[in-house]
Amino acid sequence: MNERVSEESLELRKREFDEFEGFKTLESFISAEQHLHPRSRGFFADILRRIGVASKIIGSRVQRAGLTNVLGKAGRVNIQGEQQMKLDVMSNELLMNTLQWLPAVAGMASEEEEGVMRLPPHPDEHDTYVIMFDPLDGSSNIDANVSIGTIFSIHRRVTKWGACEEVDFLQPGRRLLAAGYVIYGSSTMFVYSTGNGVHGFTLDPEVGEYVLSHPDMRIPDQCRCFSANETNYKHWDEPTKRFADHIRFGSDPHYEKTSSRYIGSMVADFHRNLLYGGVFLYPADKKHPTGKLRLLFECAPLAWLAEQAGGAATTGRQDILDIQPEKLHQRCPIVIGNSREVDLYRQMVADHDQGN
Ligand code: AHG
Ligand code: MN
Ligand code: MN
Repeated sequence: MNERVSEESLELRKREFDEFEGFKTLESFISAEQHLHPRSRGFFADILRRIGVASKIIGSRVQRAGLTNVLGKAGRVNIQGEQQMKLDVMSNELLMNTLQWLPAVAGMASEEEEGVMRLPPHPDEHDTYVIMFDPLDGSSNIDANVSIGTIFSIHRRVTKWGACEEVDFLQPGRRLLAAGYVIYGSSTMFVYSTGNGVHGFTLDPEVGEYVLSHPDMRIPDQCRCFSANETNYKHWDEPTKRFADHIRFGSDPHYEKTSSRYIGSMVADFHRNLLYGGVFLYPADKKHPTGKLRLLFECAPLAWLAEQAGGAATTGRQDILDIQPEKLHQRCPIVIGNSREVDLYRQMVADHDQGN
C-alpha cells in the first residue's frame, strides 16, 4: 500500500473517532490514538492498556482496604526513609508484575524501589520503553479514606543495546512520551496525555471499563484554589512567602474568589486544580532544602500534564520539564497549576534574586 495514502486514511479514521459522539472506552481511545502513529505496532499502546488494568486492581483493593486487613503500615521504610503502607507495597508489586512481561518494556523504576528493574531485552524489539511510577501517592491518607492515586510516566530508552541503564530514566520531562495518573476518589479516574491534550476517563464499575468523561481537559484561567501545606510557611523563603501572602491576603481582585484547599495527596490536589483552576506548591524550605516531592515519580509527570492542559510548572528558577535529573530519587521544589500564577511566582523569585 502507498505509505502516504495509508497515513492519510489513518488520520481520517482518528478524526472519525473524535467526532463520534457515543460511548468511548479507554481501550478504544488508546487504539484510535495509535492511528496518529502509522508505523506503530501497538506495543506502546499495550503499556497504557496494561497500566489501566493494573490500576483497576489497585482501585478495587483500595476500596476494600478496610475489609481485607490491608490498612496500616507495612513495617518497613522505603529508600526515601518513609514508612511504607501495606497498600504501597501491594500497588508497587502489582504494577511491576503486570508490566514486566510486555516485550517493549526495557525497565521500570518506582518511588518504592531503590534501583531500577532491568528487564532482559527482547531480541526483536528496537523501540523499547522505560516506565516510572509512584504506585500510591498520598498514602498517608489511606487509613482516613481520603483520595489517593497512582502516577506514571513513560520514556523511550536512550541506550541502544543490552539491558537498560539508569541513564534511560534520567531524562528531562520534556522528552516524555506519555504521563498520567489514576485517582482513587469518589470515583476512579484515569487521566493521561501522549502529547495530544489531556483526557480523563471515569471507571464505570458495572462494566469494569474506563469511559471517556473529560475529553481535552484545560485548566480554567481563574485561580480558584491555593494549595500548600501552610504550616510550612515559617520555613519558606521570602519570595514564596510574598507569593502566598499576595494570593491569600492581598487586595488583588483576581484572588477574591480564591480559597485554600489542601488534601496532602499531590495527585488529588492536582486533579482538583486541573478541574477548578488553582496553584499547588511544595517549595524548598528549611525542612526540605531541595523540596519534598520526587522529580521523576511525581513532579515531571504532573508538569507534563499541566503544560498539556495549558498550565505550567516551575521550581521558581527553572521549568520542571527542563530539569536534567541526576539521581533517580531526586527531589525538587514545585509550583504547578495556572500559567498566570506560575508566572507570578517566577517573577517574584526573579525580583528577589535581583535584590528587589
Ligand atoms: P507519597 O504518599 O507518594 O509518599 O507522597 C506524599 C506526598 C504528596 O502526595 C503530597 O502532596 C505531600 O507528600 C504531602 O506532604 P505534607 O504531608 O508534608 O504536606
Ligand atoms: Mn507521592
Ligand atoms: Mn507513593
